[in-house]
Amino acid sequence: MTETGIALFDEDYWDRAAEVERSLREQAPVHLATPKSGTPLWVISRYADARAALNDPRFSKDSDRLNAVILSKLDQPEGELSGLFSKHMLNSDPPDHTRLRKLLARDFTARRIANLRPRVESLVSGLLDELPTGEPLDLIERFAFPLPITVICELMGVPEADRSRFRGWTSALMEPARHGDGLTASREMAAFFVDLFAAKRANPGEDLISALTVASDDGDRLSEEELLATAFLLIVAGHETTVNLVGNGVRWLLESPQKWAALRERPELLPRAVEEVLRFDGPLRMATHRFTTEDVTVGEVTIPAGELVMINLTSANRDSAQFEHADELDLDRAHSGHIAFGHGLHHCLGAPLARLEGEVAFAELTRRFPSARLAVPGEDLHRGTSLVMNGYRTLPVVLT
Ligand code: HEM
Repeated sequence: MTETGIALFDEDYWDRAAEVERSLREQAPVHLATPKSGTPLWVISRYADARAALNDPRFSKDSDRLNAVILSKLDQPEGELSGLFSKHMLNSDPPDHTRLRKLLARDFTARRIANLRPRVESLVSGLLDELPTGEPLDLIERFAFPLPITVICELMGVPEADRSRFRGWTSALMEPARHGDGLTASREMAAFFVDLFAAKRANPGEDLISALTVASDDGDRLSEEELLATAFLLIVAGHETTVNLVGNGVRWLLESPQKWAALRERPELLPRAVEEVLRFDGPLRMATHRFTTEDVTVGEVTIPAGELVMINLTSANRDSAQFEHADELDLDRAHSGHIAFGHGLHHCLGAPLARLEGEVAFAELTRRFPSARLAVPGEDLHRGTSLVMNGYRTLPVVLT
């Protein structure tokens, strides 16, 4: 397969992604794309291939190579920030992956997370109490962002006064073309965590960072570099994604007032609604980078060894070979099998938490604001241009 003729990653790709991705699926199982900045990469976009690739060890995380790619995006030679990006579970193959994931797995089981429901409900209520009704406001800024950042920071033990700084840092990292200076953001974030680790060592609490510093003091379990990278991963994975779940979901639910009303009248639909939003317009466009360890054939295309590969989750989840009426948001869809949380070894650790936050957010928004509406036409909403994230920059709504 050679360079695709399709405008993958061109400037207008982000707002036309569903259409572009449909052409990709129809034309070939894999496309070679060259993003404006960065390394050429192979994109897998059909459901069956995507799911198989997520579970195939020949698509490896090879953290040293990942590091080089990520740092080249930040315009930074290898060195200073290497560990921040490479040494966490999402960028590791077994056996490191197994060890790193095990340290946190107990804290994210569905049962543990279910205990957080009252706290999430109270946070959602508190945030919604503050919002004005009857006038336009940005729901991302006022609700979809503060909710998950507060939840993950509480779990991790990040003091309240420091939480607002994460918005700027993660925006700069996810979308450097727009927010600029990912390098400064990474440095500041790393320095912040190093100070926090020292504070937790001196005065441990019941939070995840305190638990991880204990694991790192017992050096066999977690190196200092892995500790930093894991904290960084939790913050980034634990909030930007959930912002998009809430933002994307509210956009589509508000475009269809019957669906908004259905959730209010039949709250039993909420868990399915969350799954369907994840399938229909998921928070992650692509799974994170992988490398082929050998030549791998996908359909009729062979990806050579050592190449960079991305798995297009939003495309796979709209594949009509897998989902009936795939381009419809259908709140009654029974079995989904979407791969918005990935699949296999790296399946999202935080999925129960994300589902909980999504469910409580949609429940309370539809219950309190039966006549809410978008403040601008849906076509005027613009998505961010991150390779990995899929969400709106702002979401102007009127709550009534
Ligand atoms: C991994 C999606 C929320 C923590 C992943 C992956 C996906 C994903 C697709 C796998 C990426 C790959 O294979 O390259 C999502 C979505 C979310 C969400 C759609 C929200 C709706 C969260 C939350 C946390 C979290 C709230 C909280 C801690 C993680 C971690 C991994 C991960 C630690 C790495 C797992 C591993 O490598 O074993 N997530 N995520 N995620 N996610 Fe999430």
